Amino acid sequence: MSAPAGRARRVLAATAAAVAGALAVGMAVAAPSTAEPGPTLGQLAAAKGRYFGSATDNPTLNNAPYTAVLGSEFNQITVGNTQKWQYTEPSRGQFDYSQADRIVAFAQAHNQIVRGHTLAWHNQLPGWVNDVPAGELLGVMRNHIANVAGHYKGKVVHWDVVNEAFEEDGTRRQSVFQQKIGDSYIAEAFKAARAADPNAKLYYNDYNVEGIGAKSDAMYNMVKSFKQQGIPIDGVGLQAHLILGQVPSTVRQNIKRFADLGVDVAITELDIRMRTPRDATKDAQQAADYRTVTNACLAVTRCVGITVWDFSDGYSWIPSVFPGEGAALIFDENFNKKPSYWAVYEALGGTRVTTTTTTTTGGTGTGCTATYRVTSQWGGGFQGEVSIRNNDTTALNGWTVQWTFAQGQALANLWNGVATTNGQDITVRNASYNGTIDAVGTTTFGFIGSFSGSNPVPSPITCTRA
Ligand code: G3I
Repeated sequence: MSAPAGRARRVLAATAAAVAGALAVGMAVAAPSTAEPGPTLGQLAAAKGRYFGSATDNPTLNNAPYTAVLGSEFNQITVGNTQKWQYTEPSRGQFDYSQADRIVAFAQAHNQIVRGHTLAWHNQLPGWVNDVPAGELLGVMRNHIANVAGHYKGKVVHWDVVNEAFEEDGTRRQSVFQQKIGDSYIAEAFKAARAADPNAKLYYNDYNVEGIGAKSDAMYNMVKSFKQQGIPIDGVGLQAHLILGQVPSTVRQNIKRFADLGVDVAITELDIRMRTPRDATKDAQQAADYRTVTNACLAVTRCVGITVWDFSDGYSWIPSVFPGEGAALIFDENFNKKPSYWAVYEALGGTRVTTTTTTTTGGTGTGCTATYRVTSQWGGGFQGEVSIRNNDTTALNGWTVQWTFAQGQALANLWNGVATTNGQDITVRNASYNGTIDAVGTTTFGFIGSFSGSNPVPSPITCTRA
């Protein structure tokens, strides 16, 4: 989507509406502003004993607007490409960690834990691996894992030890490892990883295993048998490259059955793609889908965290692999937060504190400014607060604040003011005791409201002095 972000557009639209309204009634109106302070996704997840992270790749580390978000919003990073075999052992026995080291250093500088990705995968292998004689490949794989996991010992909290080893029907993918080493290669990879870094949590990672089905059943049976045999596996990664409106209904149940086997579960590569361009309906569905996935993870104690497969629609792998699809992430191309971001934010327990401010002149003087905030929100209800600032250097005597609840919100109870409702239009006048506001002073009223669906901050909100 090349247009400005949704929030930017809403602000622009609100500004235009406010200005048009002001012109109609001969008032001076300042542009509404939004402020969205509050915790990051990483902080919210940490408060729930989890992480919320993003994958990243080396080219984007030179992009300052990108790294500003990457470094602040998340408490976990996955190395999206450059720990793969192609980069770390481009020639047999020649190891190169220069690129992945940059990502790990970035994470360490920003107090972010690192998921390593990935030690044994059929994809992004250098050509020489295919030419290794069958009798040598187990040794080559063990050596690769010993070196790479050894290099990152103590720096990587989780390793995706083996990636994408199953076909959709639950049979083994005929990778070079499967063909030349046989079924045992997965267990051997886990043993080698444990030996190289005994403290890293070792994961099997795959896609299309988010719900219950043939492929996740195969993964389940493998984990069960590994646990019975004492093969060192600590977790399973559900990649979660999902499609709009198609979150499997059994995600939570699936996470739970793995947890019940005694392994951790992580959502490792979350994105939810749509046909582009975005629109409000698709954004709302995507927000609901992100909320479903987040809630499914939160419902199971052993679901330890969620990683998005990069965070901005401008840096997603989707459009290059699925032409005509994209917009799969939680920030748009310009690093504006999308509805999907706020869905995750709220699912993680965050309260979206938004404000809108309008200055109106009325009566004499320079007028007053009303600032509307949602101070807390819960299922179907919220508490709001409006502060009224007298902008003049003389006291004002009497004020009126007005807004429209365009999304069908309703006022339940209001204090420190007298409310009149006319359909969705709300008018609040001062109470008998707070109509006088000193020069450049402030007064506040509060209220409880209800809503269904979304609860955006109304805009414009006008303040008129008597
Ligand atoms: O680095 C080269 C660059 O020098 C060259 O100019 C450019 C030209 O195409 O290619 C660059 O390499 C690309 C690499 O990403 C880095 O951007 C490869 O072509 C491209 O194939 C590679 O794609 C990666 C893909 O894995 C490979 O299968 C994606 O970035 C990466 O996001 C994706 O990640 C995988 C996970 O590892 C496993 N699960 C699925 C997920 C999505 O496919």
